[in-house]
Amino acid sequence: MLDHNIILVGFMGTGKSTIGQELAARLGKAFKDTDSEITRKMNMSIPDIFTQQGESGFREIESEVIREVLSGNEQVVATGGGAVLAEINREVMLTNGYVVALTASWEVIVDRVRNDGNRPLIAGNIEERVQTLLEQRRHAYDFAHLTIDTGMLDVERIVDNIIAAYQAD
Ligand code: S3P
Repeated sequence: MLDHNIILVGFMGTGKSTIGQELAARLGKAFKDTDSEITRKMNMSIPDIFTQQGESGFREIESEVIREVLSGNEQVVATGGGAVLAEINREVMLTNGYVVALTASWEVIVDRVRNDGNRPLIAGNIEERVQTLLEQRRHAYDFAHLTIDTGMLDVERIVDNIIAAYQAD
């Protein structure tokens, strides 16, 4: 089954890291977070990479890391919210794993990301930035094999649903 990787995609604040860690623990798979891998590879925080190399520099490194991480198997991989924007990344994801898109409403997202200063794309007026980006990315996550709203259910139930769909696939 696509080398037994499960890849979580979704907008910032949709719960990719929280759900990914729980999912990995339940399935006995390794957990990887591409943002953490980028930070480690560059030895720099995400905001510093954006400041020094711009969004396009960040996206290049992100594509490299996605390719590297997805050359492995038996992993649950949480990706950054913009990782789906490049077609090459979507292709690499679809050929190397079962792709799960997590969604949440604007209200839920704003509430979850409000106190986190580590996301340069929504710095400043968080409400407005999230709304604009959500509109721009409205269909960006549609390529996934499965889509789950994380605003309504608790983590355990969401993980149950992902495991059931993954095992039925
Ligand atoms: C981004 C999302 C972030 C991180 C970077 C850019 C985006 O990841 O990759 O700040 O473009 O949506 P999270 O979705 O984990 O916050």
